[in-house]
Amino acid sequence: MTATIIDGKEFAARVRAQVGTHVARLKADHGITPGLAVVLVGSDPASEVYVRSKGKMTVEVGMKSVEHRLDAETTEADLLALIADLNADPEIHGILVQLPLPKHLNEDLVINAIDPAKDVDGFHISNVGLLGTGQKSMVPCTPLGCLMMLRDHHGSLSGMDAVIIGRSNIVGKPMAQLLLNDSCTVTIAHSRTKDLADVVRRADIVVAAVGRPEMVPGDWIKPGATIIDVGINRLDAPEKGEGKTRLVGDVDFASCVEVAGAITPVPGGVGPMTIACLLANTVTACCRANGLAEPEGLTA
Ligand code: GUN
Repeated sequence: MTATIIDGKEFAARVRAQVGTHVARLKADHGITPGLAVVLVGSDPASEVYVRSKGKMTVEVGMKSVEHRLDAETTEADLLALIADLNADPEIHGILVQLPLPKHLNEDLVINAIDPAKDVDGFHISNVGLLGTGQKSMVPCTPLGCLMMLRDHHGSLSGMDAVIIGRSNIVGKPMAQLLLNDSCTVTIAHSRTKDLADVVRRADIVVAAVGRPEMVPGDWIKPGATIIDVGINRLDAPEKGEGKTRLVGDVDFASCVEVAGAITPVPGGVGPMTIACLLANTVTACCRANGLAEPEGLTA
């Protein structure tokens, strides 16, 4: 059997088109333009790439994009003052502080200074608590994208066995909450899990989010299972030429594709969905702020 490839690039384009339609309606019917502010402290190269890409796509769907680039020595007080300004700005509906922050800044303190209603990353402690208790919240973008793909492929997820490998606050834990809210039986596995292969073999849904290149082989996969590969790992690829690299996920695609029922590729799977969901969250935040109906299908 060869798995169905879940095309995240195509799916993300569809989500962005839906967001664009909603933005156009907000402008035409209510004179409101959703606004997203991205704050980048320092010049981490990977973060620079993300921030540029976010800005470009924000504008493409018709929203207002604001970027604040602060130098690496910015003080916590200055960063908190900027966040306070953005919290108070009625034209800004979403605020994202790009992580990681330089070591001298306390990430928890900074994230929790964002107005939870504008926390389009869903990292604020209030949003974490709301999601954990099944209440309306802002949902972290990567797990939201994974959930959308799973729902699209399966319809109902009720009663399915889901195993998430990785317990991060950004992916593993919120993914578990989302799947639990959709009535899956959820296991979070991690580096100390005993008999990981046996745990993964029970899963109808495997979400791999550990950041270890190709660590899940095909013989860990139950035949027909759905694999969502969140990993983005860059490996040297001398076969492509000197200094060349290639991206791989946390699962060994070549062996897993032979066993799984469906699988997301890397690149072109979860990655494009993350930014699409950031845009979706910004529209959702804007609608909520203005007491308007939320876009259908773009929230958890
Ligand atoms: N750095 C890498 N991924 C993310 C993300 O989803 N949100 C933020 N704020 N920073 C990140």
